[in-house]
Amino acid sequence: MAADAGGSGYPRETLSSPDSRTWAIVAGASEGLGEAFAEALARRGHPLVLIARRADRLEAVRERLSAQVEVRIEVRDLAEPGLAAFLQQLADELDIGIAVYNAAFAPIGGFLERPLDDLLAAVDVNVRGPLIFARTLAPGMVARGRGGLVLLGSLAGFQGAPRIATYAATKAFDIVLGEGLWAELQPHGVDVLVSACGAVRTPGYARSAGGDAPGTLDASDVAERTLNALGRGPTLVPGFVNQLARVVMGRLLPRRAAVALMARNTRELA
Ligand SMILES: NC(=O)c1ccc[n+]([C@@H]2O[C@H](COP(=O)([O-])OP(=O)(O)OC[C@H]3O[C@@H](n4cnc5c(N)ncnc54)[C@H](OP(=O)(O)O)[C@@H]3O)[C@@H](O)[C@H]2O)c1
Repeated sequence: MAADAGGSGYPRETLSSPDSRTWAIVAGASEGLGEAFAEALARRGHPLVLIARRADRLEAVRERLSAQVEVRIEVRDLAEPGLAAFLQQLADELDIGIAVYNAAFAPIGGFLERPLDDLLAAVDVNVRGPLIFARTLAPGMVARGRGGLVLLGSLAGFQGAPRIATYAATKAFDIVLGEGLWAELQPHGVDVLVSACGAVRTPGYARSAGGDAPGTLDASDVAERTLNALGRGPTLVPGFVNQLARVVMGRLLPRRAAVALMARNTRELA
């Protein structure tokens, strides 16, 4: 696991100046954690490519950050066909030094109650999307010998989770994909990190959860901790309470007890 240092500044040369002149791309950047990643990357001087579906929200983020860096917005549904060609075009055009795949779709509710199309949409956004993202953007980083790739996992991705079973399974994919890429790309100077968050205060979280769970963090805090942990290990669980939960759920409890505990947490989700 990566050390959760908090604080500021990059840990290694990989992302430090002068490479801050390379572009940063954030998929799912119109609000919440993605917007916080955009802000944190702008503070580090990276020009930005921001992707999401809502043009008005993206435009508002661009307006706010364009005093700091150049900001390009791309209004796009990451679940739609043609993502690979679209990202390849960006990679051919821009020198992309850091890439964050933040978007996710969480179909909440009974597995048998959600339409199959919803469950497949979660696979498109949370599995197919990050896979294409990594496969199209990492080659440029490897060619340069420097770069950073961030995927978003979740504490839900470490074991089965009733009522969000598909979402949890997609997050397990992201965690395992990121770990493998961490080992594979590190010798080429590319740092890969999965940020496996607990609850984060975002509009998406507020819409699904009644109130703050223990250990809930602000989005800006998670974005900073995540970027600071690049190069320090394959997986970050941001925040002490969440790290404690990870140890209890992953190492101390039998797996069936961990799933039962998840069920207590997810039964209130709407
Ligand atoms: N919040 C939490 O408590 C929490 C906990 C654990 C893990 N995470 C992970 O952290 C990440 C961000 O969470 P969040 O709470 O910030 O999510 P969110 O508030 O729902 O925001 C997701 C962002 O992704 C964009 N997006 C979603 N679907 C998209 C699509 N099909 N195409 C393009 N853009 C899309 C949204 O913009 P548009 O709607 O404009 O497209 C938005 O900017 C996710 O990967 C999530 O799994 C969050």
